Amino acid sequence: MNSSRLPIFSRISGTGSYLPGEPVSNNELVARGVDTSDQWIIERTGIRFRHLAAASVTSSDLALQASLRAIESAGRVPAEIDLIVLATSTPDFIFPSSAALLQDKLGIKNGAAAFDVQAVCSGFVYGLAIAEKFIRSGSHRCALVVGSEVFSRILDWNDRGTCVLFGDGAGAVVLEASDAPGIHATALHADGSFNKILSVPGQLCGGQVIGSPFLQMDGPSVFKFAVKVLADVAKEVLDAAGMNAQQIDWLIPHQANIRILQSTARKLGLPMGKVIVTVEHHGNTSAASIPLALDDAVRAGTIKRGDTLLLEGVGGGFTWGAALLRF
Ligand code: UT7
Repeated sequence: MNSSRLPIFSRISGTGSYLPGEPVSNNELVARGVDTSDQWIIERTGIRFRHLAAASVTSSDLALQASLRAIESAGRVPAEIDLIVLATSTPDFIFPSSAALLQDKLGIKNGAAAFDVQAVCSGFVYGLAIAEKFIRSGSHRCALVVGSEVFSRILDWNDRGTCVLFGDGAGAVVLEASDAPGIHATALHADGSFNKILSVPGQLCGGQVIGSPFLQMDGPSVFKFAVKVLADVAKEVLDAAGMNAQQIDWLIPHQANIRILQSTARKLGLPMGKVIVTVEHHGNTSAASIPLALDDAVRAGTIKRGDTLLLEGVGGGFTWGAALLRF
């Protein structure tokens, strides 16, 4: 796996995504007994649909579909992947990692490194920044970075304040060593003192769940925190690259709530026409949402080669981060 050549840059060479099953509308949630309305969900979040994986489908299954698409669009084959970083908070098992399971499902037998990253909704940006550092170090040349989640497994369907917001899905990119940029700058942050405002505070012990196995969120506190740090971290990577917001072709934020996306764009002085928005189609898919939105826009022809992209996420931990890159 080691290479004597020291590449200076890394670039995304392919994207892929996958949403399981048929879209489930807001009205279908009402029909299933959730005490909510289509109007409330659309007005407060912008979400119209989410996808819910069948009980037998796991994060590594969704990751496999997204990864195959990303590898194909990069013009690669699985055997060329020498690093797998899979961001998830809903892994298949406690162990082995979903990344290792994905490696097996992809039929990769070359001994490539594979591990999970747990940074909740910031997970994909964390994974991308980690893979970028591996590639820049010269130790690896062709990484698969995936965000994959089955958040439907950790939703309390009696908690209307959270269950209408989330969905299942996966997104992936192939990140390769390159002579030209590529990723200009990344920034990762965490503040664990905010752990209580968004959490699944349960643990397995002696065959029992101790605490709660369901997602709990103080929505308004998360909202305020998200808007602040998304604007801050965007400015941080722009400064690090010596660029300004006007040089961004597309902002691709974590897709949690249209109102958070609008506030972030406003703070950065960007028109919504420069923001990739897919939240209405799949809700909040945590670590999967940024690569899902990226792949959607790439396949639609909205994002083109050479465009400057700012990817940014925020989530439980609290964690947040951004990556500024030339696509
Ligand atoms: O992935 C990273 C993190 N997650 C996020 O980024 C989420 C951040 N937070 C949010 O997006 C918003 O805070 C929510 C969408 C979760 C909630 O919106 P809000 O405008 O902050 O509403 P709220 O929690 O202050 O609740 C307002 C009202 C309450 O009723 P009362 O007490 O005013 O009578 C809630 O009970 O809306 C009610 N409500 C609902 N009504 C219908 C809460 N959930 C629902 C629902 N349907 N699903």
